[in-house]
Amino acid sequence: MREGASPGRVSGLVLNLFFEHSTRTRVSFEVASKRLGLDVVNFDLAASSIAKGETLADTVRTLDAMSPAIVVVRHSRCGVPEEVAHHTQASVVNAGDGTRAHPTQALLDALTLCDAFQVNRVEELAGKTVSVIGDIAHSRVVRSNLEVWRRAGIRVRLVGPRAFVPSGFTELGYEVHHDLARGLDDADVVYALRVQTERQSGCLYPSAHEYFRRFGLTRERLDRFAPHAVVMHPGPVNRNVELESSLMNDDRSLIDRQVANGIWVRMAVLRMLIDARKGLV
Ligand code: CP
Repeated sequence: MREGASPGRVSGLVLNLFFEHSTRTRVSFEVASKRLGLDVVNFDLAASSIAKGETLADTVRTLDAMSPAIVVVRHSRCGVPEEVAHHTQASVVNAGDGTRAHPTQALLDALTLCDAFQVNRVEELAGKTVSVIGDIAHSRVVRSNLEVWRRAGIRVRLVGPRAFVPSGFTELGYEVHHDLARGLDDADVVYALRVQTERQSGCLYPSAHEYFRRFGLTRERLDRFAPHAVVMHPGPVNRNVELESSLMNDDRSLIDRQVANGIWVRMAVLRMLIDARKGLV
C-alpha cells in the first residue's frame, strides 16, 4: 500500500463502531477506508438509541440490516468483537477490546520497527531488545505486541512498578524489572505505555508526579541507559507522566511514524477482508 502499488478501488460499507474514545484508530480506519474507495460511517454512540436502552446485540442486528461489509469495533469490555460477530454478516475487526487485544496497533508497530531498523520482515528483528515501560497490567497494546514480538524472536523486558506488572508475566517467562535503569539497560527500543487510569480500579500508584519521578522516560535517562534506542508510544501520551514532553519531538521518537503507518496497515487489513469476502484470497 505504502509503496504505491495501486491498491485498486473497492466498494462496500465500513462501519466504525466505537464505544470508547479514540483519535488515532478511528480516524485512521476512516482515512484507510476512504483511500480504498469504501464508504464509511462513524457510529455516533452519544446520539444512538443505546442511550434509550437498546442492547448491543440489537444495535448490531439493526446496523447489519444496512449491509456493512466490515464492522470495526472498539469496546471497553474484552470479547465484544466476538459478540458483535455473532450478530452481523460483516467481517469484524477488533480496534481494541478492554485489556485484551489491539491487533492493528501491533501490526503498525511492527511496520514502524521494520522501518526504524531498515528491514523488510519483522523476523529480521530477532535478537533486538524492546523494553516496555508502564501500565502493562491494563494494556491491550502490549498483549497484542507480545504476540508479534515473541513470534519474531524479539527480546522483551517488562518494566514498571509492581502494581503495573502482574507476577503472571514472570511465570510466563518474561523478563520483569521494577528498576528503570536495569529495565532500560542498552535496549534497542523503549516502548512507553500510557498510564490507563480509566481501566484501573482503585489507586495503583501514589501520583502521576511520583510515577514520572521513578518511571518517566526523560532525555537524560534515555541518553544514560539506552542512548541508541528508538522511542515508541501508542498514544495518547500523558506528557510528563510517561514521557518527558520534549522527547515527543526528539529524533529518536517514532510516535508520529506509528500514527502515519496506521493508515497503511489498516488499508491492508481492510483490503484483505474485502478480497476475502469476494473469495479472491
Ligand atoms: N493507540 C490508540 O489506540 O490510540 P486511540 O485510542 O487514539 O485510538
